[in-house]
Amino acid sequence: MKILVTGAAGFIGSHLCERLVSKGHQVLGIDNFSDYYDPKLKHINAEDIKKSGVTLLTADLLDDLKAVLPNDIAIVYHFAAQPGISASTPFVDYERNNIQATQNLLQWAIHHNKKTQLFVNIATSSIYGLHATSTEEEAPMPVSDYGVTKLAAEQLVLASQRSGKLPACSIRLFSVYGPRERPEKLYTKLIKAIYEETSFPLYEGSANHERSFTYVGDIIDGLEKILDYKASCDGEIINLGSTEVYTTAQGISLIEKIIGKKALIEHVVKRPGDQLKTSATIDKAKRLLDYTPNTDFEEGLRAQVKWYQEKFL
Ligand SMILES: NC(=O)c1ccc[n+]([C@@H]2O[C@H](COP(=O)([O-])OP(=O)(O)OC[C@H]3O[C@@H](n4cnc5c(N)ncnc54)[C@H](O)[C@@H]3O)[C@@H](O)[C@H]2O)c1
Repeated sequence: MKILVTGAAGFIGSHLCERLVSKGHQVLGIDNFSDYYDPKLKHINAEDIKKSGVTLLTADLLDDLKAVLPNDIAIVYHFAAQPGISASTPFVDYERNNIQATQNLLQWAIHHNKKTQLFVNIATSSIYGLHATSTEEEAPMPVSDYGVTKLAAEQLVLASQRSGKLPACSIRLFSVYGPRERPEKLYTKLIKAIYEETSFPLYEGSANHERSFTYVGDIIDGLEKILDYKASCDGEIINLGSTEVYTTAQGISLIEKIIGKKALIEHVVKRPGDQLKTSATIDKAKRLLDYTPNTDFEEGLRAQVKWYQEKFL
């Protein structure tokens, strides 16, 4: 199948590209290599996926997409976004890369692509709000600009689906970790700080935050399964995440154990918009996708440490 992956040089999108190519699909990636984090890291991912057989376009989703993209794509996986809940990210970046970029891509998928079989929007547990523990039917109550704009993007996609313009679904991912995790996220930042013997900033209160930390390979398993269950997914919002919940403090201890060295923790002020608890309810994913995340947390963290050692030490 001919598949488009937006945000292909990023953390999760790059893994899906490799998986899809390994299963014989023709994969076209698109990424603007935004400087939200060091684009060098995205170029490392890009080299990996190109070697695996992915065709990668450097372009922005706000470009004239009919001039950039072919018109015979069967499936769109839309990862490109302004991620994170950083206080230093201006609202306009969230608005541009989450709302406007999704709208422009949707217009291309509706009006210029010949026949989109399914538009898979990648959403987030941040849409739920302080506690992301419920089913997909719970009213969203996001507490960050990130969560609000990702919710708007999700609704743009689903509004098009509801009005019969294209088949689509939205997949809410829970705290993804593993090789290529973004550098400002917990584990990559922690591993780097330990190896470089620099301080690791721990946000006030965050040690006790509970998270459905989900190994990236388990997320990719669920996203790949959508291809086998396209009709059942049409119109659905589906949570994908681990049902095992750990605190941030437990995650930090495991990384210290794996590396064999303590982190130099520096306590810093609370981060506004941080969720208190995420715990993925995945009954719907089990039912519609026959989905079972099964990577052991410590094994997943070991894979991330190994990736860091291979790429950066
Ligand atoms: N990492 C997580 O734990 C997590 C959890 C829930 C949801 N998500 C969602 O998964 C998706 C991918 O997240 P990630 O962690 O891989 O982030 P990432 O930043 O590594 O990947 C996103 C990619 O999109 C690209 N991009 C951004 N704006 C673009 C635009 N306008 N045009 C073209 N490319 C653009 C960036 O350059 C980047 O390479 C996002 O939609 C995010 O909201 C991530």
